[in-house]
Amino acid sequence: MLREGGVVAFPTETVYGLGADAENEKAVRRVFEIKGRPIGHPVIVHLADASQIELWARDVPDVAYALAERFWPGPLTLVLARTKRASDLVTGAQDTVALRAPSHPLAQEILRGFGGGVVAPSANRFGSVSATRAEHVVADLGDAVDLVVDGGPATIGIESTIVDLAHGAPAILRPGGVTSEELSDALGAHVAEGTSTVRVPGSLPSHYAPRARVELVENMTVGEGLAKTLREQGLRVSLIGSNEVNAFARDLYENLRAADREGADAIVVVLPANAGLGIALRDRLRRAASPKR
Ligand code: TXA
Ligand code: MG
Repeated sequence: MLREGGVVAFPTETVYGLGADAENEKAVRRVFEIKGRPIGHPVIVHLADASQIELWARDVPDVAYALAERFWPGPLTLVLARTKRASDLVTGAQDTVALRAPSHPLAQEILRGFGGGVVAPSANRFGSVSATRAEHVVADLGDAVDLVVDGGPATIGIESTIVDLAHGAPAILRPGGVTSEELSDALGAHVAEGTSTVRVPGSLPSHYAPRARVELVENMTVGEGLAKTLREQGLRVSLIGSNEVNAFARDLYENLRAADREGADAIVVVLPANAGLGIALRDRLRRAASPKR
């Protein structure tokens, strides 16, 4: 289906992706249409492994290979200077391309079988909660996609970390499944949170947002109190929180979606501590709670 220009949703360890042949302009356009994503927002090219980096990127710094060696396949996306193979549609007409090799066994099988690069933005409608199960993709995009490959629930549950390696010192453009501690450890130097001039939809104020209003609190006692108050006002309230950060990440998008399915008016979320994976979770939750335009 990918070879014929089809759009195939498939599992990755982070979230489900909406896949198409990265070198087929028409197929990539359909991905944007299906998601409702504005043209100009770049997409990640997924590869089976690091051996394909130089088809898509030039002037690749050593640090890119070091990070790929350590974290690929896995939840890390590298932004590098692009080759001509990466079209304006894929890159948002920037001079860079984002590359990632996902580790999910089915994603690996699909990428190896296909052979080329596969664009795969998260398989949800633009601005809404990412899909971590095949059912989420079907609920959001249904018949618009040619095929949904069901690989079960995503094991990490939050998107990849995006690191810019094209503009000097490595900078994190989006926190994600690989923590800044792990990155700093691999590089032997602190990796800064980037101030990106690049269009990153995941960095729009309101993104990853459910229909219900989202209230963020710092601990469970406050969360329970707020949930009680809101219920007394007659609202249907969901309370989300976990002391275990990996489980928090794995279940977050399903929990937000479940609250919407159950008709919640408000979702009270007890934030994880601001360290490790908690940094990426707090980033997504801040956007989920941001007022929608
Ligand atoms: O975990 C993930 O990364 C998932 C799975 C499916 O691999 N994909 C994902 O794709 O989250 P998407 O399109 O929802 O988010 C990709 C992010 C966007 O924020 C986009 O702006 C950014 O990557 N991006 C893509 N190309 C870029 C580039 N050349 N420079 C900077 N950011 C880029
Ligand atoms: Mg997304």
